[in-house]
Amino acid sequence: MRIILLGPPGAGKGTQARRLMERCGAPQIATGDLFREHIKNGTPLGKQVEQTLKDGHLVPDEVTISMMADRLSQPDCKDGFILDGFPRSVAQAKALDAMLEEKGIKLDAVVQIGVDDEQLVARISGRFSCGACNEGYHDVTKKPAKSNCCDNCGAEDQFKRRDDDKPETVRERLNVYYENTAPILPHYESKGLLKTVNGMAEMDDVTEEIQVVLGKKLCPGTPKAPKIAG
Ligand code: AP5
Ligand code: MG
Repeated sequence: MRIILLGPPGAGKGTQARRLMERCGAPQIATGDLFREHIKNGTPLGKQVEQTLKDGHLVPDEVTISMMADRLSQPDCKDGFILDGFPRSVAQAKALDAMLEEKGIKLDAVVQIGVDDEQLVARISGRFSCGACNEGYHDVTKKPAKSNCCDNCGAEDQFKRRDDDKPETVRERLNVYYENTAPILPHYESKGLLKTVNGMAEMDDVTEEIQVVLGKKLCPGTPKAPKIAG
């Protein structure tokens, strides 16, 4: 399965990518996570991009494209990938087309996760995650069972919040999304690859809808059982 998850900050790309990775087997490749890992490790690339992430701006295309060309050449991407946060500009979309063509492979689908702006800001401002396994949580909608302990991996006192989740930076990230990233939607629509799901629904329902639009052939993992009324 080779897919892109597209959507504004807080749409649920990371949440859904992790779920699809578990159900469908392809690795999640998240540009934001890769940059944050470089920053954490103090690499030259991390130092180069740190301020850009803090400001909520896009890392220059040539830097991002070169990092992704390297990442997509790793053996774990040979049979598939779930791209989360890439491409994010028309230049990146065209560069990805060229990379895939060179490898003789094609994208299966581009899934757009649609969410209203107000909901996005509420989601991001309450978000935190486990520093050990990356599981995502939220102050209101997804609290861990024990306040200092990750439900997924059991790590204690590892919860962290992102530097770029301050309200003013979130607004800037949204502007950047509409200006630079939304224009790539027609690129994929014209190729017949674009599918849109309702990201305002509950997390489980969004996962299920994505699996339905992808189809069993691409993502054979078991969707949750349908709700029984009453
Ligand atoms: P990145 O890390 O990609 O951030 P983003 O796109 O702004 O998106 P987020 O990670 O904030 O949101 P998400 O859609 O993953 O939502 P999540 O699942 O966490 O990029 C960060 C920065 O890196 C960029 O600003 C830029 O500087 C740089 N960068 C990255 N890629 C780049 C590129 N290609 N080119 C140049 N620069 C690049 O969910 C959010 C919250 O909502 C969570 O709390 C979650 O629990 C909750 N939630 C999720 N789904 C639901 C639901 N259905 N209902 C209720 N709550 C939900
Ligand atoms: Mg994310």
